[in-house]
This record gives sequence, C-alpha cells and structure tokens, in this order.
Amino acid sequence: MEQGFRLFPDQASSVAPRVDALYAFLLSVTAFFTLAIFLAIVYFAIKYRHGRPKDRPRLRHEQLWMLEIAWIVIPLALTMVMFFWGAKLYFEIRTPPADAIELQVVGKQWMWKIYHPQGRTEINELHIPVGRPIRLRMISDDVIHSFFIPAFRTKMDVLPGRYTMQWFEATRVGEYDLFCAEYCGTDHAGMRGRVFAMTQADYAEWLRSAATETPQAAGGRLFSQLRCNTCHGDDAVLRSPTLHGIFNRAIALADGRTVHADEAYLRESIVDPLAKVTAGYQPLMPTYQAQLTEEQLLLLIEYIKSLPRPGTQNDPT
Ligand code: CUA
Repeated sequence: MEQGFRLFPDQASSVAPRVDALYAFLLSVTAFFTLAIFLAIVYFAIKYRHGRPKDRPRLRHEQLWMLEIAWIVIPLALTMVMFFWGAKLYFEIRTPPADAIELQVVGKQWMWKIYHPQGRTEINELHIPVGRPIRLRMISDDVIHSFFIPAFRTKMDVLPGRYTMQWFEATRVGEYDLFCAEYCGTDHAGMRGRVFAMTQADYAEWLRSAATETPQAAGGRLFSQLRCNTCHGDDAVLRSPTLHGIFNRAIALADGRTVHADEAYLRESIVDPLAKVTAGYQPLMPTYQAQLTEEQLLLLIEYIKSLPRPGTQNDPT
C-alpha cells in the first residue's frame, strides 16, 4: 500500500486526519510569520545599512490607532481559531462513544498487559477490530508510563493509583507501533509493542482461538480466594453493603456525602476502605492495599461490575 510521500504517514484512526489538519494549520501559521519576520529583517538590514544614502523620514503618528487595532485583532483571530479548533477536537478525543469496547490495560516496568472482555489477555500486543470504537481503561502497577500509538494520534499517561482513559477507532487494517512515551526507568526504550488492527471477523476469530477465563470469572475466583464473600456474600448482607448492582449507582456515605460508584470508587474502597464508608455500616473492612496487584484489582472490579442488581432477571440470588 505505497502511497508515495505524505507529510503525515499512517493516518489509521478516525481522529488522525483531524489531528493532522490542526497540526498542519499551526505549522503553516508559525512558518508564515517566522518567514515573514526573517525576510523583513534581512530586507531592511540591507536597505538601510550603515552609510547607505537613503531617505529616512521622521515617524508620523497620526495613524497609530489603526496599527494598534491590526496587531490586536489579527493575532487574536488567529489564536481564537487555534483555541476553538483545538478545544473541539480535544473534547472529541476525550469523549468515548457509549458503545465502545472496553479493554483493560496495566503498565508496569517494563511491559503492557491487556485484558479483552471476552477473556483473552496479551502482553505488548494489542489486537483490535477496525471500525469499532475501543476504550482503554489504564493503570500502572509502579511508576508513570504513557500509552502511545502514533498512527492513531492518541497518547495518555498511565498512572499508579488512578485510572486513566483513552479511546480510538482504527480505520485501516494493519500493524502499528505502540510505545511507552514517558521515561520510566532502565528499560523504558524497550517498553514497546505492536498494534494489530484486524477486520471484525478476524478479530472475532482471534478472540475465539485462545479464549481463556473472562476477567469477570477470574475476578470472581479471586473474590472467593480472598474470602471477600465472608462479608460481602449474599447471606452476609448485614455486615456489609451488597455489591450487587452497585456499579454506576449513587451511594450515600456515612458522612452525608454521595458518591458515584465508578471504577475509581470501587478501587478506592478495596485499597482504602475507610475513605468512603457507606451510610449505615461500620468502618470494619481491612485494607487490601499491599496484598493486591493492579491486575488483581482490575479483575475484582470487573467481577463486581458484572453483579446484576438484586431482583433483576439475571440475578441468581
Ligand atoms: Cu513505561 Cu516508559
């Protein structure tokens, strides 16, 4: 698929052409003014050089206000174009479509581990279907990393202790680079991988070919191993709030506040259970901070997210 010289190679995601267009605009405005100023300096330096007999009239001040207006209005208009164009694109890049497929990403010294919802995991490789929005929920097990796919024009820091998100929709089948774009220690330069954008049929086949336990099932196993069900089990509801249907709901807290039970809240409630105690319950839960890796936390959260609301059709209780 050789396309000759292109200023911006590998536009392989839905936002890539728009990011490049904005970048080209910034580059041309900058290049235009840089060139104009340098040419004017050279021209005047030669024209009015020392010893050259030239007409040098006194400055006239009558029209100064027009000059003032020009150098206020023109840069303002140009920078406002940059601002609104950039802001519009930024909001698009930060707002994933509701139907995006969610993958979990854990960065650690020095590799990327990725979980697919249907139960395939991979290391330093990312297989995705084209034409479908993909949302990555990312966290680091140690230091700050950054998940960067140049061909998709998306990059986001991967932080310890906090979930970050990026999304993209690949538009061309192919193989692309994946980099860590934040210096994270000795092997930072080796923390790289490949992105395989496949047709949706190939992706479905790829998922099937080596399906293992789903993150929800693995999380459920962990839930029992850690004996979480001693308190959070279905017959222990008096000791602890039920986890069924808790995800994405508003939770009333003991101190009168209300929180939205998203992934960040679920994670915090495992590693720092006393930070936000549910109204009507005692602060009894021990912390699991030192016992769990971020991968295990991800799996536990996926399991909790999968628990249906009490009384709904899928609820086994
Ligand atoms: Cu991870 Cu650089």
